[in-house]
Amino acid sequence: MNVLVTAGPTREAIDPVRFVSNRSSGKMGYAIAAAARRAGHTVCLISGPVALPAPRGVEVVRVTTAAEMLAAVQRRVRSCDLLVMAAAVADWRPKQPARRKLKKQDGPPRITWEPTPDILQTVAQRKTARQIFCGFAAETHDLAREAQRKLRAKNLDAIAANDVARADRGFEADHNALTIFFADGCVRQVGWTTKARAARVLLRELAAYADRKKSENIFEK
Ligand code: PMT
Repeated sequence: MNVLVTAGPTREAIDPVRFVSNRSSGKMGYAIAAAARRAGHTVCLISGPVALPAPRGVEVVRVTTAAEMLAAVQRRVRSCDLLVMAAAVADWRPKQPARRKLKKQDGPPRITWEPTPDILQTVAQRKTARQIFCGFAAETHDLAREAQRKLRAKNLDAIAANDVARADRGFEADHNALTIFFADGCVRQVGWTTKARAARVLLRELAAYADRKKSENIFEK
């Protein structure tokens, strides 16, 4: 299978020196890319700015902004069988980044914000029946409700929700715990474990969902 994975944060410029970003280290997405490669798949990893080495045998495309990540995903999504969006993409960006470094003596920067493109929502509109799209949901509260809302809103096959309010999982941590919601109503728990193992279990569960989806389509014909 062709697997397309996104990982890491995006950076949205405030001025030539400063930007808005988040704490994503890329570990979760890189673990998914490495696990997919070890399972024998062809893997392309689209990565925001992180301090991780490229997983062996994986094509890595480095991007910085949400707009660059959208363009990189759009260039590759048609040929992928599985898309896993583990990247922490900024939701908002400064509408007009300053061309010169903002000076302290000018006081706090007044910034007008605009939404970034919703990458998953954009590409999921053209998802084909043979493709599987899996998102991630980073939640600090109402995890199940928020994840299931995103599953439907973004026309996904699955969404892996993680609690990012705790230091021992989610952003930057070496471990994670996932609740995976599937479009066919199945829910799977991955208890607190290493991101490497969480990635393997996620891929296994996505493969099982793909089998369910295939057999369902056969019965529909
Ligand atoms: O990188 P690590 O340090 O290992 O941390 C892992 C992680 C916490 C970043 C990861 O497990 C995770 O939760 N990634 C998703 C973070 C995120 O942006 O979640 P969200 O609920 O805000 O977004 C929902 C989904 O929409 C995500 O699949 C996201 O990639 C996607 N999205 C979001 C915004 C946007 N403009 N376009 C998108 O496609």
